[in-house]
Amino acid sequence: ATSRDQNVGRGSGGELHQTAEGEIPALTTALGTPVSDDQNTLKIGERGPSLIEDFHFRDKIFHFDHERIPERVVHARGYGAHGYFETYESLAKYTRADIFQRAGEKTPVFVRFSTVAGNKGSFDLARDVRGFAVKLYTKEGNWDLVGNNIPVFFIQDAIKFPDLIHAAKQEPDRDFPQAQTAHDNFWDFISLMPESMHMIMWIMSDRAIPRSFRFMQGFGVHTFRFVNADDESTFVKFIWKPKLGMQSVVWNEAVKINGADPDFHRRDLWEAIQSGNFPEWELTVQLFDQDFADKFDFDVLDATKIIPEEIIEPIPVGRLVLDRMPDNFFAETEQVAFMTQNVPPGIDFSNDPLLQGRNFSYLDTQLKRLGSPNFTHLPINAPKCPFAHFQQDGHMAMHNPVGRANYEPNSWGMGPREDPRRGFRSFADAEQGQKVRLRAESFADHYSQARLFFNSQTPPEQRHIAMALTFELSKVQTPAIRERMVSHLLNIDEALAANVADKLGMRKMPNPADTAVPPRDDLEPSPALSIIEN
Ligand code: HEM
Repeated sequence: ATSRDQNVGRGSGGELHQTAEGEIPALTTALGTPVSDDQNTLKIGERGPSLIEDFHFRDKIFHFDHERIPERVVHARGYGAHGYFETYESLAKYTRADIFQRAGEKTPVFVRFSTVAGNKGSFDLARDVRGFAVKLYTKEGNWDLVGNNIPVFFIQDAIKFPDLIHAAKQEPDRDFPQAQTAHDNFWDFISLMPESMHMIMWIMSDRAIPRSFRFMQGFGVHTFRFVNADDESTFVKFIWKPKLGMQSVVWNEAVKINGADPDFHRRDLWEAIQSGNFPEWELTVQLFDQDFADKFDFDVLDATKIIPEEIIEPIPVGRLVLDRMPDNFFAETEQVAFMTQNVPPGIDFSNDPLLQGRNFSYLDTQLKRLGSPNFTHLPINAPKCPFAHFQQDGHMAMHNPVGRANYEPNSWGMGPREDPRRGFRSFADAEQGQKVRLRAESFADHYSQARLFFNSQTPPEQRHIAMALTFELSKVQTPAIRERMVSHLLNIDEALAANVADKLGMRKMPNPADTAVPPRDDLEPSPALSIIEN
């Protein structure tokens, strides 16, 4: 028999018999032409040459050649799931956002968890921040709460983001390491950025090697605003708390798991949801007014700071349940486009310079990654509420204006109109000042909250931080970088600095790093941060 006979199973029967019949539909080209033979290209004679007339072959190979889109510039490796958000009770006093008006309201959501630095094919249990991006399809448009599993960030101003990410990802000449913080470029940059020290304490902690996505907290990080129907604003920080509590692995386990099963976290989420074990988080909010912001020890616009939970207790306002895996990873998890700028009426931004920069960056990067301004037409990105606008055309346009009118105002009485009553109104904050490139003095204390976090950890957790710092810095080959890091640690905890310096074999302790503002040691540790529930 020829290979053709074997593949199409002419006369052979059983599972080799793969031609269309009965319930099995005919294979077609992308344009619907039924295909008679999917095993052989069209040739002159059995031994060729091949013919470019073979439109089925060209259709198939052309499409295959274009399957890849650019991976995300950060957070390339991720895993998503569908579910819903259920509102506990009305928050109308604080916000006019429709999602928070009625107790029991259920809003569909899509969540994508991710690592930050590794490429798309990297392993799950890298020591890294985890993305916790939630798209809530509200009745007044999509709300994207694009957060992380750590409540603070490395930098205070978005203009440093490209530098941070360049330093964290592969070094450009050698293209390694793929997914680790342990290299000279990363620690060089960090050691030159004292504002990153609080975040460094968190990523050297067990938080950066979570047992699975189901055991992580999520944070909106920035201060946002709620705005109510009377246009009154309340500042808000968003925190997701896992119903299962928090759990991490230890580094030893992480290294073994990465070798044995690099898909450990995605497999965990898949298996939990497929077996009906739906993970759940509670959304809590920390609410405060301008008066509190003015009196708080740190600037509420500084994304390297938290508001400790015993100063403002997080109030539960709803729950998130993930109960369905995507039908197709690419269509949903890969093409989902999160953008911090997506907020419904009643939720607004603060002047946090990191958030303001993100609001520009995400729209821009989605266009690059998805290739057309019509990425909002993809089902995973489209709102699930009615929408009407005059945007038209562009690559792959699926929704164009219907009828004659594609502009506003028009004399034809056609098309949608602005709605001053229900539409999004920015909070009318009074702004005044000189146009400058400066950082406020209120952003200058980089060490006090790093110490607060370290002190809040239990002794085993503190040991893990010391071990992580030692391991990471032992991979750094430039002595000056190690010394700079130890000089920062001296401003956080002297015993920690001495321990790390000793393990690194450093003969002489460096001086503590210069500080713009001396670190405070009168801050109370935050017990809420130290709890690792089992
Ligand atoms: C992607 C969180 C800061 C630019 C993401 C994702 C998350 C995230 C969770 C992945 C979204 C997904 O799953 O598709 C954060 C947090 C930040 C932060 C919590 C700070 C608090 C920034 C800054 C910039 C930035 C300052 C730039 C100025 C990007 C870009 C992507 C991204 C370009 C890729 C988006 C995509 O291609 O889908 N970020 N990020 N991020 N972030 Fe951030």
